[in-house]
Amino acid sequence: MSALGSAEELKRAGSDGDETAGIAALPDFVATARLPGRSVLADTDLTAAAIAGLLATAAWLKEQRRQGEPHPYLAGKTLGMIFQHPSTRTRNAFQAGMEQLGGHATFLGTHELQLTRGETLADTAAIMSRYVDGIAARFAIHDDLVQFAAGASVPVYNALTEVYHPIEALSDVLTLQERFGDLSRLRLAYVGDGNNVCHSLLLSGAAMGLSLAVASPVAYQPRTDVLANARALAAASGATITLTDDPLLAADGADAIYTDAHESMGEENDPAKEAALAPYRVTEAVMAAAKSAAVFMHCLPIHRGQEVDEAVVDGPRSIVFEQAENRLHMHKALLLLTMG
Ligand code: CP
Ligand code: NVA
Repeated sequence: MSALGSAEELKRAGSDGDETAGIAALPDFVATARLPGRSVLADTDLTAAAIAGLLATAAWLKEQRRQGEPHPYLAGKTLGMIFQHPSTRTRNAFQAGMEQLGGHATFLGTHELQLTRGETLADTAAIMSRYVDGIAARFAIHDDLVQFAAGASVPVYNALTEVYHPIEALSDVLTLQERFGDLSRLRLAYVGDGNNVCHSLLLSGAAMGLSLAVASPVAYQPRTDVLANARALAAASGATITLTDDPLLAADGADAIYTDAHESMGEENDPAKEAALAPYRVTEAVMAAAKSAAVFMHCLPIHRGQEVDEAVVDGPRSIVFEQAENRLHMHKALLLLTMG
């Protein structure tokens, strides 16, 4: 790894407003991974090489933070955040991450904007682009994010839509890589709703050689277009994608068992869905079908007793808080490589 700028140089870059000094001090392997101006609306906006660069940069930023090394490479930059749904992890990871990188973040709930009085998504994005250097957006409807991004002239980051949650999946791939090393030898079993998180794990995981087995009730399986893309990515990376309605079959021999809420934001109180997904709870029996070293994963927030038993999520194989922490490091990597 090449020499980094000294802590003193980086502090100067952070305090005198000269953001190019901070970027110039990036180590070579981070500088060459840069994705200037890149928006990430779906996982497929990133190639496997780009994801590899994000993983390496996130790991490096995590180490910088652990060692207490200042890293204000985004001094003078501002991230705008616009959220239509609540958020604990994503919003905090973006905001804390931006501050740790020497920049600033502003937050707007969509209900606070003139969107409520008919201003268009594209106009809102065009105007925000005049103030900020990148925008994180959480919209209920993916097409709204696409319309919003069409008006933006700065990078737009998908902070979750009903179809994709790409930075979640990238953070989870980082967590798996940290825990196990070589992703191409791993198999992740996703048990539950074939939702946004499942879609992004399929796409980002398959791009990086991670094999995935999804167990969902037939009515709640992942979208066929997403599966087709994931299969194409898997064919290129050497991974496999399998689909079943049997949680124990998916879990058999897996390295990680992943689940998510049975009802996502915006679709609460759906008794038919709740009933269909009830047998897809991750129990000790599901964990027992996996490898002895297998881990339990969840993007959070968790609903103990619904999609997972308390004994599993609070047990020794659970790495849910490592996942949550890695959101910070992966969000920082994305901000640095696209905005820096
Ligand atoms: N996992 C996740 O995206 O959490 P938040 O909704 O709290 O951001
Ligand atoms: N599938 C969940 C993920 C929350 C982080 C949802 O969309 O609500």
